[in-house]
Amino acid sequence: MPLVNMRDLLCNAEKGNYAVGSFSVANMEMLMGAIKAGEELNSPMIIQIAEVRLNHSPLHLIGPMMVAAAKNSKVPVAIHFDHGLTLEKIKQALHIGFTSVMIDGSKYSLKDNMKLTREVISEAKKYNADVEAEIGRVGGSEDGSENLSILCTGVNEAKEFFDATGVDALAVAIGNAHGVYLENPELNFDILDEINKSVNVPLVLHGGTGISDDDFKKCISLGIRKINIATATFASVEENVRKLYEQSQKVDYFELHLAEIEGAYLNVKKHIQVFGSKNKA
Ligand code: 13P
Repeated sequence: MPLVNMRDLLCNAEKGNYAVGSFSVANMEMLMGAIKAGEELNSPMIIQIAEVRLNHSPLHLIGPMMVAAAKNSKVPVAIHFDHGLTLEKIKQALHIGFTSVMIDGSKYSLKDNMKLTREVISEAKKYNADVEAEIGRVGGSEDGSENLSILCTGVNEAKEFFDATGVDALAVAIGNAHGVYLENPELNFDILDEINKSVNVPLVLHGGTGISDDDFKKCISLGIRKINIATATFASVEENVRKLYEQSQKVDYFELHLAEIEGAYLNVKKHIQVFGSKNKA
């Protein structure tokens, strides 16, 4: 099954009323575990890495590996550059073969966000790649370095933004935040419902870690077609490795390698089942 475009996955998800998981990876083991889960459940998937993670996982190393994994996968996989901040890195990701990029202009004014997004769209077009943008502001931060407050997406803003850019996917802020929630998240389903009714674009939910299965399902029924999961997969890898060291005094490197794969696999599998994309490959 080839490396695919995100727009095709999200279009199928719209028709089938499910969401495609967009799973963050940081190394080969996480990538292998995520793909293993997708293949086992016969699910389409998106594999992503965010720009802030590149200090740990350089793009010139992890990028080609992600693309190669998608090309060799038994299920359709889109490779996504998450929370792109600079045109330079976005161009590098496109050049490597990522099939979609996100431009995170959420810290700018609507006008500047639109301008930046249009620039990225014209760059992505050269590669037939898709673009995701964010309106409003998801709370927290991708790497935990900041605790940004949530700024809910305005319905009119979202419509104006989409009409002006024609972006392929739109991330909304409805009370969701990156990282670990300190209290149970209270998602604003009314805003989501309104955006879904007024803007004809696949919607994206960031900050998937810590959202309940019921809330995921409600979001999907209200037009969320892509759900980003990062922290929960990192935590699952850490937990699996910790268990391995607790069980045995001496751990062989290759046992560690397998424990990392398994940790990522378990979390990705769990989420695919909730998102309803099982057997939709
Ligand atoms: P979590 O780390 O909360 O799962 O969020 C992931 C995300 O939205 C990546 O963009």
